[in-house]
Amino acid sequence: MDLIKVKDYQTMSEKGCAYLLNHFQTLKNPILGLATGSTPEGLYKQLIEKYKKGFISFRDVSTFNLDEYVGLEEKDPNSYHYYMNEKLFNHIDISKENVHLPNGTVTNLQQECRDYERLIEQAGYVDVQILGLGLNGHIGFNEPGTPFSSRTHAVELNESTREANARFFDSKEAVPRQAITMGIETILESKEILLLVSGKKKAVALARLLSGDIREDFPASALKKHPHVTIIADEDACVHIG
Ligand code: F6R
Repeated sequence: MDLIKVKDYQTMSEKGCAYLLNHFQTLKNPILGLATGSTPEGLYKQLIEKYKKGFISFRDVSTFNLDEYVGLEEKDPNSYHYYMNEKLFNHIDISKENVHLPNGTVTNLQQECRDYERLIEQAGYVDVQILGLGLNGHIGFNEPGTPFSSRTHAVELNESTREANARFFDSKEAVPRQAITMGIETILESKEILLLVSGKKKAVALARLLSGDIREDFPASALKKHPHVTIIADEDACVHIG
């Protein structure tokens, strides 16, 4: 894993954007794996800016999001579909049929997970997967204890994750109890992985990722098994790293 330390959130977002643009240049039809949450918002702003200035087009880009809540419609402001439309897709020239997120409103979640896996495989796998880091080391919605061999699956969310995400909802009770997420093995099949980490509250998790063992009770440690992981972390997130 390569660690790039940067000053702050803004610089992390700019560097992340530069990293992606670099990769785009080498790919005819880039397949991008996307995350939601606070961490990649700045990166998405940067990408929109580059698009508006004419430096980049998304016409040939396909995307696969990591996860989606179960039970939230696309038009629900807390769904990840809504987030992606608001924060990125509505502002760029990506074609809607190239955009993929798990559908958490279907009755047969298992089938949806299998279909999502098949779509990723048919597309030729993700070229660059963007990840954020959960406080407990989760990646996607793969909570501690998730087998490293997991594929896209439906999960019960940990209370700590529901608490952390409650800031986007009216109350913690409103946070869904289930989600669909790419599995850890699915994530590791991406050709490159870009992990963005910002803020003091992520410092313990980042230090554990860098110096700890590879263990299923800390999902992000699976990234150490991948040959091409780049971490861009800001100074606050690096306070516990020597
Ligand atoms: C989001 C996702 C999560 C987040 C993680 C960090 O699609 O899969 O794993 O990346 O919870 O969230 P933030 O960035 O809000 O701190």
